Amino acid sequence: MSKRRRARYAGSVRFYKHLLIACIVAAIVVPTGFCAFLAISNRALSRTVEDLEAQVTELQQSAQITTASISASDSSSSVSENAAESTEEEDEEEKLSISTDDWNLFLVNEQNFLPSDFTVELETLPNTGKKQVDARIVEPLNEMLNAMEEEGLRPVICSAYRTIEYQTELFENYIDKRLAEGWTYEDAFYKARTRIAIPGASEHHTGLALDIVSKTHQQLDDAQADTKEAIWLAEHCAEYGFILRYPEGKEDITGIEYESWHFRYVGEEAATYIMENEITLEEYLALAE
Ligand code: DAL
Ligand code: ZN
Repeated sequence: MSKRRRARYAGSVRFYKHLLIACIVAAIVVPTGFCAFLAISNRALSRTVEDLEAQVTELQQSAQITTASISASDSSSSVSENAAESTEEEDEEEKLSISTDDWNLFLVNEQNFLPSDFTVELETLPNTGKKQVDARIVEPLNEMLNAMEEEGLRPVICSAYRTIEYQTELFENYIDKRLAEGWTYEDAFYKARTRIAIPGASEHHTGLALDIVSKTHQQLDDAQADTKEAIWLAEHCAEYGFILRYPEGKEDITGIEYESWHFRYVGEEAATYIMENEITLEEYLALAE
């Protein structure tokens, strides 16, 4: 179209007619297109919502199944827990059928001094420098020592039965050494009580207790606990009826510091219970009360 014709068309009646038609067409097409677009979007959204709803239903169903199986397993585990508990209770009742009158459970400590009429049949152990024990424990003691030797261990019995006189000597010697180091008598006495029992309060008087050390390390000190012999004894003594009588952490009950070398015969049943439950003879006997 030439410049002149374009100028004539703009502003002419024809131009306004065309403009009007264009406006009418636009007024019909644009809203219709927009509506169509909305309808399509709406449909797509509805499908998405339906899909999501289906997924939610699925999840709810699987959650219900899981919850049901959890409750089922909960109830079955509480059944087995109850069963275990009742078995434990029954076991405990069995284990609690102990008699404090049993010779092997005889308790001697500061609260239970050796009775003045106490007697015991002693037997001398060979190759121990005439050390003696209650004749009734010789067999399990020998079995334990033999088992150790078969495993290449070298246990040495450094103390067994003690008379009151001998215990007095040990007790006074301990105090004298502390006094020589500058301790007060009171401090030395209270310390001695935790290491060497007061004469009359030592279970060495019963013939049921022994101090067992390693041939390679015969000192009664902290390092004794690390010897192969002490480790074996702590693990196996109960199989032969012995217990580690003064365990670590039980000083407030026994009144005696940890002694990795001091073993006491109580019989296999009591020893197993005491060692497995990591308790002392005092605690075991209290269970029977
Ligand atoms: N060493 C232990 C406590 C005793 O003398 O009996
Ligand atoms: Zn001892």
